[in-house]
Amino acid sequence: MYNSVLEAPFVKGYVKMANEGYERGWHERNGGNLSYRIKKEEIESVKALLDFSKEFTPIGATVENLKNEYFLVSGSGKFFGNIKSATEENICIVEVDDTGKNYRIVWGLVAGGRPTSELPAHLMNHSVKLTATNGEHRVIYHAHPVNAIAITFVLPLDSKIITHLLWEMMTECPVIFPQGIGVVEWMVPGGEKIAIASSELMKKFDAILWAHHGVFCSGVDFDLTFGLMDTIEKAAEIYVKVQSMGGIKQSITDDGFRELAKDFGLTLNEGFLN
Ligand code: 13P
Ligand code: ZN
Repeated sequence: MYNSVLEAPFVKGYVKMANEGYERGWHERNGGNLSYRIKKEEIESVKALLDFSKEFTPIGATVENLKNEYFLVSGSGKFFGNIKSATEENICIVEVDDTGKNYRIVWGLVAGGRPTSELPAHLMNHSVKLTATNGEHRVIYHAHPVNAIAITFVLPLDSKIITHLLWEMMTECPVIFPQGIGVVEWMVPGGEKIAIASSELMKKFDAILWAHHGVFCSGVDFDLTFGLMDTIEKAAEIYVKVQSMGGIKQSITDDGFRELAKDFGLTLNEGFLN
């Protein structure tokens, strides 16, 4: 159907989002990673261009409900700033085997390499979201945005406190993340432990703040997932500016949030209101 995998719209959408994140300054060096659960018809459209000769390798996690699924994933140690100009060198398509324990690269990373070191976190988050959203969510995005990281050095690492403050920073915030944001204390990245902690929170939240490290977002498509990251980072930036001007003097009240929820038909996380 295509002469190259690069022509497929899902690859173009992925590259556009990765580049936008890079242009925002959220991806210093190889910081951050992005994965997309490819639709059946999308993988069929490029199947003739894939190479199924490589060996399967352990994922480092078990994701049974993702067996035989395909993901478009950024490479470990690869720079987001290079994805647009050298796509095949920096991203890959991986296939999960029929046990949900192993993966193999079937396209991309042509100059060598392996998928992101956060593959266990990505796939465990996809696994949780597949169940929680009935398959609607397809994108998991990890970035290192400055202000979102900065607030984890001064605020208590508490989901309710951080969510409430970010909701207050911009009226659209409770509309865009009504369930709030989960917070994971500092942990060593890249392993199963942080993947388990994150995927537990992903059962409830679409965004997770990794203390002193970055943000993970989940979403239906590239635009919505990018938009969620963008909104969180903007709210965090407003908070940093408000603090630098002497701190909050007036804000949106909890009754205001309840009124907003009513008018916008939102189910706000009541546990995060006072
Ligand atoms: P990778 O280069 O392995 O994707 O790691 C970057 C990162 O942000 C780790 O958390
Ligand atoms: Zn990171």
